[in-house]
Amino acid sequence: MTSFFVTKAKAKAQLVGIKAAMTLIPAPRPTVFSGEGAALKLCQAIAGFGHQKVLIVSDKILNNLGVLRPLEAKLQELGVKVAIFDGVLPDPTFSITEACLQYYKTENCDSVLAVGGGSSIDVAKVIALGATNNKTPQQLVGILKSRKPSAPLYAIPTTAGTGSEVTVGAVISDDKTHQKGLVLDPKVVPRMVALDSGIMSGMPPKVTAETGMDALTHAVEAFISDFAGSESDIYARSAIRLIVENLRVTYKEPKNLAARESMALASHYAGLALNQAGLGYVHAIAHQLGGHYGLPHGLSNAIVMPHILEFSRPEINPRLAELARFSKLVTNETSEAVAAQAFMNEVKSLMSDINIKAVVPKMNALDFDDIMQAAFKEAHGTYAVPKYMTEDDCKRILYVISQQV
Ligand SMILES: [Fe+2]
Repeated sequence: MTSFFVTKAKAKAQLVGIKAAMTLIPAPRPTVFSGEGAALKLCQAIAGFGHQKVLIVSDKILNNLGVLRPLEAKLQELGVKVAIFDGVLPDPTFSITEACLQYYKTENCDSVLAVGGGSSIDVAKVIALGATNNKTPQQLVGILKSRKPSAPLYAIPTTAGTGSEVTVGAVISDDKTHQKGLVLDPKVVPRMVALDSGIMSGMPPKVTAETGMDALTHAVEAFISDFAGSESDIYARSAIRLIVENLRVTYKEPKNLAARESMALASHYAGLALNQAGLGYVHAIAHQLGGHYGLPHGLSNAIVMPHILEFSRPEINPRLAELARFSKLVTNETSEAVAAQAFMNEVKSLMSDINIKAVVPKMNALDFDDIMQAAFKEAHGTYAVPKYMTEDDCKRILYVISQQV
């Protein structure tokens, strides 16, 4: 028996515990405002709760583009004071999060509004939890490290991909090692969110494409997970159909608000699905590619996903066929094998249509062991993958990815 099979047995035992915890502590759902102008409706709702001073957590790019101005003006018009922290950077670190938490305290805020992509929402989640629990961001890393509810938290995602506005996790990186710390706690789910297609229409095509592939990966990994259930299936299937129907449109027509709204819903549904069914090897490997080579998260997922789906066949063929039928890529009469292949073809064709190049620049074979070990550490015992990999399986996929041109 190889060490891999010992790992697999342990992993399966750990998964039983995780599934029990997820069933006992279900994730709360935020109230959702959707469509053009939803962000201002959310501001109105925030004022209605009687908060005195809200901290907007965002980044300098959005602030300089003027995205925060109408929100600030609306809140002030309704009698809510506003402080702005715009120091969030991609892959936010503990020191950025700590600075944001200190600013929240110094400004005597009583609520938090995240405006941005996954990074700003993650920082906002952690400081809202840290503020009421009197804990540093580092002390919140792990599963259920808080006792008290978080400070009132609201979110306006400006990308359609991470689903962070609804997920139970937040990722903060160590300043020196760049290792990612995961805060996993249902209390970080915002009270209300606005999926504002008008704000999202300012997203550049490259960001639209890559974040859209992140949302697709969330939905697909949740759908093929052994933790998938009837409810997560509803959200995952719908997310995938919406992405198949709308990602190309948002890429080519950034101002198409109907398509933007559909993609925002898809990302949100995919987040709901992953809260219940978790992720898989695509994210486990993609996180390491991001860490080693600085690739954007959605791009890393897009590069890895076709290979993990292919590896996981034929076990997942019935599920892929179901997705193809639901997304109307084939008819209900199409055979399982043909329908499953149609879904695989659609993933590749979608990537090509939105100009995602499946290449990892300067990938080094000397990194393969580190990438594989870190990916297995993340996946085994955490993600209910439909088919387990051996070390050779993983290295074979890394080699193929490194040869793609
Ligand atoms: Fe993701």
